[in-house]
Amino acid sequence: MRAPAYAIPHRIETERLIIRRYVEADAEQLAAVTTRNVEHLRRYMEWIRFEPQSIEQRRAWIAEVNAKADAGEDYTLGMFLRGGDGSEGEFVGGTGFHVRSRPERLAIGYWISSEHEGRGLVTEASAALTVVGLTVTGATVVDISHAPSNERSAAVPARLGFERQDDGGEECFDGGCHEQSVTWFATWDSLQSEPLASTPRPRLLDEAGAVLQWPA
Ligand SMILES: CC(C)(COP(=O)(O)OP(=O)(O)OC[C@H]1O[C@@H](n2cnc3c(N)ncnc32)[C@H](O)[C@@H]1OP(=O)(O)O)[C@@H](O)C(=O)NCCC(=O)NCCS
Repeated sequence: MRAPAYAIPHRIETERLIIRRYVEADAEQLAAVTTRNVEHLRRYMEWIRFEPQSIEQRRAWIAEVNAKADAGEDYTLGMFLRGGDGSEGEFVGGTGFHVRSRPERLAIGYWISSEHEGRGLVTEASAALTVVGLTVTGATVVDISHAPSNERSAAVPARLGFERQDDGGEECFDGGCHEQSVTWFATWDSLQSEPLASTPRPRLLDEAGAVLQWPA
């Protein structure tokens, strides 16, 4: 089945993060942070097997993921720190929405550089993506999947009030093997309960940098 194009903003701003599509000029930062974190990411991020990558390969990857986003196939976004004045700071990790085979669903993925773990940044990003996913994109279910052993990952949807389902029907990666995932779900109802109910609506911007209005 052909996936529909979801209305995913190019840029989502939370209190401490700018979550946006990568641009070619991010290749160097992406290289530095990924290279520093290879061991941190190896167990659960299957793509680490493609490391090391040249700057040219990273630029090609950025072009490829943006082409997929334009085609509505997958939406890869980077997380950058946001200063108090709104300025963009360092690149800290990756996130985005994966398109599932079921068209009503979007799946949030994430990783963060080890030096920024434990600050609640992934929870902040995931809360914002959940609200965006269920309010503006056209999806009616947002899910988060992880390997059964990945407790740090499990803690993110648990903190946000997602509903857990073991053997969630998705495949995940753990230390070289594919396994049945644990999958957590959020729907419109989840947005009526805490903590999502009081998650501030992030600022949304389009490709040209124009601020997008939230639906009434
Ligand atoms: C999984 C992963 C993304 C989780 O990152 P994380 O930093 O633990 O998640 P958060 O940024 O939400 O931080 C949560 C921690 O910050 C603390 N925290 C501090 N301020 C917080 C705030 N304002 N809000 C929420 N939590 C906060 C929480 O108590 C929690 O601490 P704890 O781990 O000691 O319980 C990270 O471990 C990672 O990148 N792992 C490797 C790749 C990976 O496994 N990706 C997921 C594949 S499914």
